[in-house]
Amino acid sequence: MSTVLMNGEFIPREEAKVDIEDRGYQFGDGIYEVIRVYNGKMFTGNEHLERLQASSGKINIQISYTVHELLVLLEELIRRNNIHNGIVYMQFTRGTCPRNHAYPTSEVPPMFIAYTKPLERPKENLANGVSAITVEDIRWSRCDIKSLNLLGNVMAKQKAAEANCYESIQYRDLTVTEGSSSNIWIIKDQTIRTHEANQYILNGITRQKIVEICQRQGLEVKEEAFSIEDLIDADEVFLSSTTSEVTPIVSVNNVPVASGEVGETTKTLQDYFKKEIIACCGEIE
Ligand code: PDD
Repeated sequence: MSTVLMNGEFIPREEAKVDIEDRGYQFGDGIYEVIRVYNGKMFTGNEHLERLQASSGKINIQISYTVHELLVLLEELIRRNNIHNGIVYMQFTRGTCPRNHAYPTSEVPPMFIAYTKPLERPKENLANGVSAITVEDIRWSRCDIKSLNLLGNVMAKQKAAEANCYESIQYRDLTVTEGSSSNIWIIKDQTIRTHEANQYILNGITRQKIVEICQRQGLEVKEEAFSIEDLIDADEVFLSSTTSEVTPIVSVNNVPVASGEVGETTKTLQDYFKKEIIACCGEIE
C-alpha cells in the first residue's frame, strides 16, 4: 500500500479524497511539478521546487511551505514508499470553495498533494530514438506557468499516440515552440538550438541543465526560436524532459531526420547529462 502526502500529512493512498468543489478539479486552477528520483534521491529537486514557487507566484496561490520544507517532506515520502528509480508528482490547487470563476476572497487554504511512482530510465528510447509529428500549438500564451490546465497538451499528445509516435512537436505561426510534455531542440552545423524561455514554452529544468552543460563544455548553444523548415532541415533533433532526459528524435512526420540515426552531438549531450545525474544521485545504468 503506498503513502501519499495530503496537506502535509502522510496518509494511505486509499484515504486521499478530493472534494468535488476543489478548484483544481473544476477549473484546473493549480500548478504542479514532476521530479525525477534516481537511487532514492531527487535530481534537481531544488530547481523544480523553485519553479513551483515561481508558478504559484504568477497565479497568486499562496504556498505556505519553503523549498526546504517541501524537500524534507518529499524525501520522507520517497523513503516511506521505498522508491529507487521513479518520480515524485506534486500539485497545489487554489483549494475548495463554492464554484465561482474569480479567486475566493476569504482565506481558502490551497490543497497540496504529492505521490510517488516507480519509473526506470527509458533506456531503449535513449539508445534508439523516437518518432514525432508536428501539430499546431493551440494552447494559451502563458505556457511558462506549469499549470494543471493541460488540455492543449493532452490533445497534442493524443495526436502523437494516434500516429504511433512518442511526441508531438508544436508550432505557432510556423515557429516551433515545444513538445506536448517536453522541450524540443535541433542541431545544425554543430549549433544547438531551442526556443527562448518566454511565455510560449515551459522553461524545462532539463532544458536549463542542458544549456548549462553546453556553456560549460564550450558547445555552441542558442536559446532562439526556429522554424518548421529549420526542424525539417536539422542534422539532429532531440527532446528533453524530466522523465525522458535527452531523447533523440529520429523521424518527424514519418520522414527520417538526416540519416535517421541517433546523432553524435545528441549522444555527447546524453553522456554529459548522465554524468550530472551520477554526480547528484550516484551510479545509474
Ligand atoms: N513535463 N514542456 C512541457 C509542456 C512539459 O510538460 C514539460 C515536462 C517540459 C520539460 O520540463 P522539465 O525538463 O522540467 O521536465 C517542457 C512533465 C515531465 C510532465 O508533465 O509530466
